[in-house]
Amino acid sequence: MQKFTIRIENTGEHYACTDKRSVLEGMVALGRRGIPVGCRQGGCGVCKVQVLEGQYVRRVMSRAHISPEDEQNGCVLSCRIYPASDLRVSVIGAMKKNVCRPLASLPPPPTMNQPRQGDSSWQ
Ligand code: FES
Repeated sequence: MQKFTIRIENTGEHYACTDKRSVLEGMVALGRRGIPVGCRQGGCGVCKVQVLEGQYVRRVMSRAHISPEDEQNGCVLSCRIYPASDLRVSVIGAMKKNVCRPLASLPPPPTMNQPRQGDSSWQ
């Protein structure tokens, strides 16, 4: 069993994934909320990614979601590809909307205490 690194280009995140796990399974193991996981068999199309770099083993996936042209551009269903090298992927479609949204668990950005007009420090 070999272990590879998958880098999600949109977020800069990366994770380890063995050649026995689909790229989607590895992504789910990241623990991010909202990663769309549908049929896990290449039929629903929610887990679309574009492989920008690297080698993978591809299993059967629905032509309703991945056309031959899509495939030539590296667009695949992440539940149906298994890494054969380190991969650089970009999430697209429904996957992008969920993976790239801000994390709800992050605290709100800090606010600055600004002096009010009339304070002696206001200049
Ligand atoms: S989860 Fe349904 S196509 Fe990947």
